Amino acid sequence: MSLPAGALLGPYEIVAPIGSGGMGEVYRARDRRLWRDVALKVLPRELAEDAARRQRFEQEARAVAALNHPNIVAIYDIGENYFVQELVDGEPLPDNKPVGLRRTIELAGQIADALAAAHARGITHRDLKPGNIMVTRDGRAKILDFGIAKVSQGPMGRSFLPSRMKARCSARWATCRRNRCGGSRPTTVRTFSASGYCYIKC
Ligand SMILES: Nc1ncnc2c1ncn2[C@@H]1O[C@H](COP(=O)(O)OP(=O)(O)O)[C@@H](O)[C@H]1O
Ligand SMILES: [Mg+2]
Repeated sequence: MSLPAGALLGPYEIVAPIGSGGMGEVYRARDRRLWRDVALKVLPRELAEDAARRQRFEQEARAVAALNHPNIVAIYDIGENYFVQELVDGEPLPDNKPVGLRRTIELAGQIADALAAAHARGITHRDLKPGNIMVTRDGRAKILDFGIAKVSQGPMGRSFLPSRMKARCSARWATCRRNRCGGSRPTTVRTFSASGYCYIKC
């Protein structure tokens, strides 16, 4: 992570790093105008020199900005090679740690609802995995990281989920329902990046 505490990007003062991945570095920062903490996603300098990466970074910001859903992280602002999001107060969705059947169903419902809202705006996340889903202290799922999302140009208001994907989704659910009576095995949420669906592993 390249920015030290106290560094300024526009009106935002870096407080501490909170995460990083393939597309950016994420910092807790203080908005010095509104006096609240935010999450600042920064395109590292070495990537910022690549026009395609810069374009993809801006597309991520625009995709998030097009969405307004309680289970999708909100964007507040954009600057040169950074954008500003709500600071999600929580932890990434645990990977391979059981969360219990009730929580699994609640979280899966929230995630599915958020994805449906995104698909209705022509946006397919394509990188859904535990590291890109946070769970807030009060138990809400928040989808992050639209860094490799596909944005379709079609009319608003229709689902862009391809029919092939719907068929695979239904088949997966059917298999899941058949196998669900395992009982003693842990329940967890697994998500699949390529197809944008989730299933319950029993
Ligand atoms: N808005 C946010 N609030 C709190 N933590 C965040 C936020 N955005 C990202 N993070 C943390 O930073 C990590 C990397 O962010 P992400 O957007 O997935 O970057 P990348 O595109 O590099 O994978 C996440 O896994 C999460 O732990
Ligand atoms: Mg990520």
